[in-house]
Amino acid sequence: MKKRDYEIDDKIIRTWSTFVPDEAITEVANTLRSKWINTGKKEKELRGKASRKWGFPYCVAVNSCTSALRASLAILNVKPGDEVISTPFTFIATNTVILEQGAKPVFADIKYDDLNINPKSIEKKITRRTKAIIVVHYSGNPCDLDEIREIGRKHNLPVIEDAAHSMGSMYKGKYIGATGDIVCFSLQVVKLITSGDGGLIATNNKDYYQKLKKIIWYGIDRDTKITNLLNPLPENFRGDVLGFKYNMNDIIATLASVGIDHFEEVATRRQIVGQRYREELADCPKIKLMKYYNDRKPNYQMFPIHVENRVRFAKYLLKHNIMLRINNRRNDIYPMFGGLRNDLPMTTRVDQDVVLLPMHADLTDKQISYIIQKVKDAVK
Ligand SMILES: Cc1ncc(COP(=O)(O)O)c(C=O)c1O
Repeated sequence: MKKRDYEIDDKIIRTWSTFVPDEAITEVANTLRSKWINTGKKEKELRGKASRKWGFPYCVAVNSCTSALRASLAILNVKPGDEVISTPFTFIATNTVILEQGAKPVFADIKYDDLNINPKSIEKKITRRTKAIIVVHYSGNPCDLDEIREIGRKHNLPVIEDAAHSMGSMYKGKYIGATGDIVCFSLQVVKLITSGDGGLIATNNKDYYQKLKKIIWYGIDRDTKITNLLNPLPENFRGDVLGFKYNMNDIIATLASVGIDHFEEVATRRQIVGQRYREELADCPKIKLMKYYNDRKPNYQMFPIHVENRVRFAKYLLKHNIMLRINNRRNDIYPMFGGLRNDLPMTTRVDQDVVLLPMHADLTDKQISYIIQKVKDAVK
């Protein structure tokens, strides 16, 4: 596949798609006409809606999940010399933010069955330099949160959940983000809710919340700032915190806010697609589906499978106009992370046999049947 993503022609069934309800177009136009497009009432509305819908105790809005992760590490004072335990099987942003803080990512192994970090491996990697643990709910299938949080409690380590894939996923009857130290969501283009780019941080910790609100905008909490027309910076700006420029503006907040109103449409459609794949591919030879758990509900952000000879498989499907993706490579193949680790056996296996089937709300019933048939043909 040599073409750029945006050049892919319409007859190809894409791995992912973007959902922007028509209403969002009208609402963004209204925001644009309102003369206030900076961080303002739309951003506040979004935080309120997200908190009510998914039970976030406190919520901060930012311009991407990468910013959310970086800000989280910064308020935890992760710095050079520190180690952060993380997963090697993820989009690089989970781990580049650790490098940006000058710290070292220490990779724990993952579980073959669900691609999520293995709590047992986390515990083995803890040293006196460990400052935090980052986990990813891969493809929207929640991690073993109870075990991971117990390890965090035992060793006094905060757990950051990279929930870029997991808006609306559930763990033990609660939405991801309703519990937990710091939970970072992405609103990037292929997510269930998108604002083009954007992110949300949920936390159950008031101290983290207050620090996050400051660090995402030059050290100033926009909610409580006191403006004095004769002072270029707010009256209560003390210059005591070195902050970033990560705030979310009202244009993209409007997009995400309308997206929340339409969330069930997208989520339900993805459940239908996912359940059909799971039922109809369950007995397919040479394919292994992900393990899902009775006490968790995935949001089907992605649909990874294990498949033998994935290159041949991908080529076959592409020949039949179905686009597959190898979503992520193990991050330690990239030199910036300090070289390939040799103590991650499951990561090694997964890095050879995982592909993503198309998964998005635009897939028609006919397309789903076609994909299922071609997948079966490919492994015959
Ligand atoms: C696991 C994971 N973490 C972080 C990110 C970064 O998200 P964003 O593009 O919103 O910065 C992504 C991107 O999709 C991701 O897949």
